[in-house]
Amino acid sequence: MCGIVGYIGDRKAYPILIKGLHRLEYRGYDSAGVALLNGNLNVYKCKGKVADLEAFVKDKNLDGNIGIAHTRWATHGEPSDINAHPHYSQSGDIVLIHNGIIENYASIKEELKKRKHKFKSETDTEVLCHLIENIKDNEGVSLAEAVRIALNQVVGAYAIAVLSKDSPDELIVAKKGSPLVIGVGSEKEFFIASDATPIVEYTKNVIYLEDEEIAELKRDGNIKIKTIKNKVKTPYIEELEMQLETLEKGGFPHFMLKEIYEQPRSIMDSLRGRLNPVKGVVKLGGIADYEQAIIKAKRIIIIGCGTSWHAGLVGEYLFEDLARIPVEVEYASEFRYRNPVIHEDDIVIAISQSGETADTLAAIELAKSKGATIIGICNVVGSSIPRATHAGSYTHAGPEIGVASTKAFTAQITVLTLMALQIAYEKGTLSRSKFHELASELYAIPEKVQAVLERNKEIEAIAKVFKKAHNFLYLGRGYTFPVALEGALKLKEISYIHAEGYPAAEMKHGPIALIDEEMPVVVIATQGASYEKVVSNIQEVKARKGKIIAVVTEGDTVVKSLADYVIEVPEVDEHLAPLVAVIPLQLLSYHIAVMRGCNVDQPRNLAKSVTVE
Ligand code: AGP
Repeated sequence: MCGIVGYIGDRKAYPILIKGLHRLEYRGYDSAGVALLNGNLNVYKCKGKVADLEAFVKDKNLDGNIGIAHTRWATHGEPSDINAHPHYSQSGDIVLIHNGIIENYASIKEELKKRKHKFKSETDTEVLCHLIENIKDNEGVSLAEAVRIALNQVVGAYAIAVLSKDSPDELIVAKKGSPLVIGVGSEKEFFIASDATPIVEYTKNVIYLEDEEIAELKRDGNIKIKTIKNKVKTPYIEELEMQLETLEKGGFPHFMLKEIYEQPRSIMDSLRGRLNPVKGVVKLGGIADYEQAIIKAKRIIIIGCGTSWHAGLVGEYLFEDLARIPVEVEYASEFRYRNPVIHEDDIVIAISQSGETADTLAAIELAKSKGATIIGICNVVGSSIPRATHAGSYTHAGPEIGVASTKAFTAQITVLTLMALQIAYEKGTLSRSKFHELASELYAIPEKVQAVLERNKEIEAIAKVFKKAHNFLYLGRGYTFPVALEGALKLKEISYIHAEGYPAAEMKHGPIALIDEEMPVVVIATQGASYEKVVSNIQEVKARKGKIIAVVTEGDTVVKSLADYVIEVPEVDEHLAPLVAVIPLQLLSYHIAVMRGCNVDQPRNLAKSVTVE
């Protein structure tokens, strides 16, 4: 969490920085700030969003061709003007922005206090800035060297950018555990950011800094990279594939709605080049070298957080059902701390939209250290998780800006389905005819998703009825149980309504006690093996006067006669049901949140990329 951006070159830095902060605001939005070097080192920062910072700096001196800026998601110290970044050093001659956590900041702070350092904020970041200045002054070294020495003393995660009044022609950046991309412009200029979105409109040439690397970016276009152990590295420039249009709202009122509507395209992009329905071929090139290892695996462990964990549950059903491989799905945050049993022949599938989730990364490192093979399913190209895994497949959903994950979820399920189909077919646990049938059904999913999107008005009307509800229950069974969890998560994170997802049959083991005429119950009752059982569950809710909103397969008459509201989705094979059944739930949450006046793209307390544990 937190977004950092910086510029050094001949252009005015401020417009680049502020635009960059808007692009990164999804990473945190409780305070923001900017530092500009123009003889003086001016820092402007305030509590609130990037727009508040823009209003705050209106009458300020915004000159300077070198600057850094930050949008914060608070970890140490509440959101406030003082805790906002950039932070000054003791003398005020050095400023620093930071994404991550310095775990041993308290002991460093105590040491510095003994040397008469005075701190204004409660942050770990300010301590690091003071430490750098203390080293620079006491050891008489350059800014870059002081940064290097300081980073050898800190424990934790960081992506930092540092400016000094005494070094007006350089910008120092470093990273460990938090992402940092350097854009190399054609005009002797450098852009830095937490991800490539603030950079792409200026240059497509980027360097992804590795952990424990420091880069010295000079105004004359020179760049030096070394590790914190002082090993010189050769910069490796890669070309970005990102398109600028994908970062704009494109006429939609919110990114979330745009991303929901993009799903026919994003699912197709995840299939393209990997699935040939006519020949009945599925090939995920990224896992080719590990295909045999997966086929022979005695166990697959799927790890992820939040929505990615929900996609993992769908993956469990798919792999067990089609490829007959036992699967365990784990919250990465639990897995990493509970001393799990991991064998060398285990396959670990790590799922992450951002590719930066700290718990998922740590769980990967743990499994790797025990010899397991790690396969990644990620959306953000070049992010940390794909670089930490042995192999993997990108989801190709395109940038997801809304904090609530939508198109990334369906893209993750698409890739998991492809993987399960490929492995099942090669392993011989799936007949040629069933394989063919599923492959062509999968290829038809984008148009079926499109058909669900066309029901948006009906869903909006249902949202109007329930917008004031205090609680919601979501029920599903089999392949749609993870969809119930995902529907509940979507609603709570953007509308702040309490919602729970349950396997429908579990209801009578507790949650049924909650049901009365005030309780809306969303039931996913599409055709499948458990359809009749779900109908019985609906009867149980009905008998207790609960209000039923049912997602049903087109042409259903049984549930229609029982439910208060129905949303029809096209018929699909049960294995693919999550891909269509989740769409109405995304739209329902979206409309309820908008009607309640919530900020759907940037819900309170959340950040898109959770880079702290
Ligand atoms: C989804 O709507 C959430 N915002 C959140 O649960 C998210 O899925 C989770 O933080 C995992 O993120 P990742 O996929 O980037 O690893």
